[in-house]
Amino acid sequence: MNPFKFYLVTDTHYFEPSLGCSGEAYEDYMKNEMYCLAESSDIVKATFKKIAEDREIGTVILPGDLSKDGEKESHKSFVKELRKLKDAGKKVFVITAGHDYNDSPRGYNGKDYIPVEGTTLDELYDLYYEFGYSEALSVDRQTLSYVAEVSDGVRMLAFNCDSTRESKGQIDERLQNWAKEQIDRAKADNCFIFAICHYPIIPSVPVFDLVGDAHIKNWRQVASFLADNGVNLAFTGHMHIQSINEFYSESGNKFVDICTSCLVGSPAKYRKITLEDEKTVKVETVPVPEFRSDTNSLSTQRFFDLRAETSAVNRINRALAGDGLPKKIARKIFNNKTLGQLGRMLCIKVDKSLKDKKFTTFAGEIARDIFLGDQPYTKGTPEYDAVARVFRRFNPIIKKVEKKLTKDGITPNLSEMILNTIGNNKGWSDNNATVSLK
Ligand SMILES: [Fe+2]
Ligand SMILES: [Fe+2]
Repeated sequence: MNPFKFYLVTDTHYFEPSLGCSGEAYEDYMKNEMYCLAESSDIVKATFKKIAEDREIGTVILPGDLSKDGEKESHKSFVKELRKLKDAGKKVFVITAGHDYNDSPRGYNGKDYIPVEGTTLDELYDLYYEFGYSEALSVDRQTLSYVAEVSDGVRMLAFNCDSTRESKGQIDERLQNWAKEQIDRAKADNCFIFAICHYPIIPSVPVFDLVGDAHIKNWRQVASFLADNGVNLAFTGHMHIQSINEFYSESGNKFVDICTSCLVGSPAKYRKITLEDEKTVKVETVPVPEFRSDTNSLSTQRFFDLRAETSAVNRINRALAGDGLPKKIARKIFNNKTLGQLGRMLCIKVDKSLKDKKFTTFAGEIARDIFLGDQPYTKGTPEYDAVARVFRRFNPIIKKVEKKLTKDGITPNLSEMILNTIGNNKGWSDNNATVSLK
């Protein structure tokens, strides 16, 4: 195969601003939302403009959650933006996902949420026909999955794993049978084949293995099926996180999952991908360009990160809401204590560099940094040591929780999972890497 370069942009969550995105209801909703809504159209336009100007890369691939919540008007406006990419000479391939069809579509005006027209799966096929389906060698109409030749000798197996509420996060046996036919055909035609899928196939960070909606169902079986049939690479989204992970099937075949962040929320990145040959893929991460006329003295990255930190703290407070005494105490500790004070309460040593840090600040930063990839809190850092001490201190309770979480004969090691979630100890970067597929 010849080297093939493309942009990977995902979870654009485009919202048509004329549907309404201001007022009390909007402000209230945005308290807990990690990604931008009023700004999403400006972010998409600025990013697509930059991509359109790149003379070197001629293809853009988007694996789902194109719109905020399936608003018809958001899709219509987003299609116009995709057409601008096409007018600039780019080939564009998309799949849709759960946020693209009737996912409580609404606008925001004053104190009210305003229901707006949504989109059905059939309408999505028509709306996005020119961005993948028109060039497809085969379409699975039940899910709107398809396979297309994206470059000479390179095929893309586009799984729509999120096409109905029932099929959410699934590549079931029927879809695998369809995929097997497409893979065999690609091999017979001497083509390299890779996959895209909205849901991560490999959990992006270890803790996500415990979260049902964070990865494809039966992910080990699906990853093994793909790897054993010669599909060693997938590009995914959905969890709004930067990650590169590998998995080996029982037969020893390697599978690599490259998950990319939400475009319109922290860390707000997209990827430049080079398939150098059948064995090597080069991954480069690109930040969202400046998109605001009024920068409000914050850098673009800080603008995104602040939303992530604030919404993470608000979500924790929402979870701690209630009149019961334990929740009241937990809320008081979370919002008022420093890590030094917390350490003294739990008899846990906290490094002096962290002592004056507020618990809320720490929680916001950790939440933000997990999604950035290359998580910084590796062994030897004060943060790693503090979290490790918490696990040691509460070991008997944690062992009981691990027993309860045992599934399919696998008992999770919570301390290892959490520590490998806040610190990237994999030996390679989640953001910029040259990845071997064999
Ligand atoms: Fe998303
Ligand atoms: Fe999603």
